[in-house]
Amino acid sequence: MEQVMRNFFLFMGKNKLATKMAKKYGMRFGAGRFVAGASLEASLNAIKELNKKGLCVTIDHLGEFVDDANEAQEMADHCIKAIESIAKEGLDSQLSLKLTSMGLDIDEKLALDNMRQIMEAADKNDVFVTIDMEDFERCQKTIDIFKELKKDYENIGTVIQAYLYRTSDDIEDLNQYSPNLRLVKGAYKESPKVAFPEKKDVDENFKKIIKMHLLNGNYTAVATHDDNIIEYTKKLVEEHNIPREQFEFQMLYGIRVERQEELLKEGYKMRVYVPYGKDWYGYFMRRLAERPANVAFVLKGILKG
Ligand code: FDA
Repeated sequence: MEQVMRNFFLFMGKNKLATKMAKKYGMRFGAGRFVAGASLEASLNAIKELNKKGLCVTIDHLGEFVDDANEAQEMADHCIKAIESIAKEGLDSQLSLKLTSMGLDIDEKLALDNMRQIMEAADKNDVFVTIDMEDFERCQKTIDIFKELKKDYENIGTVIQAYLYRTSDDIEDLNQYSPNLRLVKGAYKESPKVAFPEKKDVDENFKKIIKMHLLNGNYTAVATHDDNIIEYTKKLVEEHNIPREQFEFQMLYGIRVERQEELLKEGYKMRVYVPYGKDWYGYFMRRLAERPANVAFVLKGILKG
């Protein structure tokens, strides 16, 4: 049953009509538990609150599957504004974004041009940018654009997903760039032809790539809410004397908040991924798919009206 619900939410999350309707009618169904608000101001307030507690942040102006070049330019302009606001207010925050919001599905060159505009602002304002990883279909294109940008900009990273078979090859290949990578399990519905279908295999591969990337001497963001993976990382860094400046933990806004603060108290760097914006729908569906128990929040949201 859980698998059926998971597939249902992942399928719904990629529905373009539902995405457009959700944007039009505003945040609903208790999505506010996972999304900081619709505006940049809302996200800046969330960063300030988290920074006050000692947590670092990466903000994500939600948006994906943009199929209009003007809209992609608007998204890029918004990211530039967000970068400038972070710098102006002296906040401890990075920026995350998705290439499909920069026009990847229209034309790769358009996405790269938009990214260059963003990276110029990020460079000038000393803000780190992470390119989120989307579904398998866009994985190679994302890595290609990351490599292209990494030649010219230091403060850029991307994400590698443990559920893909290709992942350890990507870690080896990217090592030549000494990249700062966020490692995750992977949030999309993928075919067993390209991704491990079993959770235990994903978890094993996750541990494998964490070890590879850390022992290669690269900065590693371990982005997970899974205590097994967190404990594995803690043990690994201790065994290999890896300094705390070489890694951090990351979690999503609104998920395992107490655990985030515990890790911080233990002296680990903890970064919270704070999504905001009108395009909340696909992100929200993926969070429901990860934990169908969250559907209880949806039902409460519907009952509240
Ligand atoms: P797992 O799903 O096994 O969960 C472990 C435990 O965490 C659960 O038992 C539960 O207690 C808690 N938990 C997990 N998800 C929850 C939820 N939604 N609600 C409540 N509790 C939950 N993916 C991707 O494909 N591309 C990307 O760019 C990113 N970026 C990204 C950034 C950051 C900072 C994080 C933390 C995650 C991502 N992800 C992502 C998502 C990632 O791939 C994955 O889907 C989720 O993190 C869930 O996997 P876990 O590692 O948390 O483990």
